[in-house]
Amino acid sequence: MDSVHSALLRDNNGAQNMTLKRIPATAPLQQQLDAFDEDGGVIVEGLFPADTIATMRDAVLSAAESVEPGSTDQGLGEAGRTFDGARTIRFSSLGKLSPAFFELLDNPRYAQIADSVLLPNCGSYWVNTGQVMLIGPGETAQMLHRDCLNWAQHCAPLWPDCAEITVSAMIALDEVTEELGATRVIPGSQRWADFADFGDPSQTVAAELEPGDALVYSGKVVHGGGANLTSDQWRNAMHISFVVGWLVPEESSPLDYSDEELESQSARVQRLLGHRSYDPQPHFGGGLWLRQVRKIEA
Ligand SMILES: [Fe+2]
Repeated sequence: MDSVHSALLRDNNGAQNMTLKRIPATAPLQQQLDAFDEDGGVIVEGLFPADTIATMRDAVLSAAESVEPGSTDQGLGEAGRTFDGARTIRFSSLGKLSPAFFELLDNPRYAQIADSVLLPNCGSYWVNTGQVMLIGPGETAQMLHRDCLNWAQHCAPLWPDCAEITVSAMIALDEVTEELGATRVIPGSQRWADFADFGDPSQTVAAELEPGDALVYSGKVVHGGGANLTSDQWRNAMHISFVVGWLVPEESSPLDYSDEELESQSARVQRLLGHRSYDPQPHFGGGLWLRQVRKIEA
């Protein structure tokens, strides 16, 4: 896209004219994919079952009692602490808390969306984050960013035509409102001409969610956590994202689980958590993450 077209697109993408589309999980898959493609993200209502969400929520909130807000930094020191939020609680290894996490990983509609977005570019994908993101009272808005910045060396030279390499779901454990710090998105920004242009907050729209709803979004779209404007309420949500199997994930979840812990889980869950080798087929390329350098298991 040339820069003039991009500028026009940005003018036409003023937040006052834009909303994220809300599509029920039971709607045809193509409706969700079309919205994802058009805006860079879509709210899928009722994506995750209420009982699974309730179980995960209780386990998460119980575990959160022993986690200090602002205690994570993405391994980046002070800059990472700013990104993660001084009043935000984050932690991962969620399958250790409840098997409900494995059910979320195996969710069939999220799998279909992720397959459609990522499998054109890889033989399989794995978990990038399985992370609680509880935004506390008084938290300020997170800096706007694109999740594919994790792999900037791949994306920047090819931008904006680089492949989709990561897809995320921000999942509501309780009601998520704009006031509580709903994720903010700039629809259409996945096609902007400048990789390093993150727009400004006035261009964003809030992805408000009911429990079990999810904002499913591209790694290419500009977004950020919203400010929590309340004095006494938390934004309770969690993040499950995937990245193509030929890139290193943000979280080292393969190290979090033993073979025995995943023995009874599906092949998909085992693969998502890095307990299976990477097979590039049907694409050209070599196997990666080879377990004992044996034949790749399906
Ligand atoms: Fe993000």
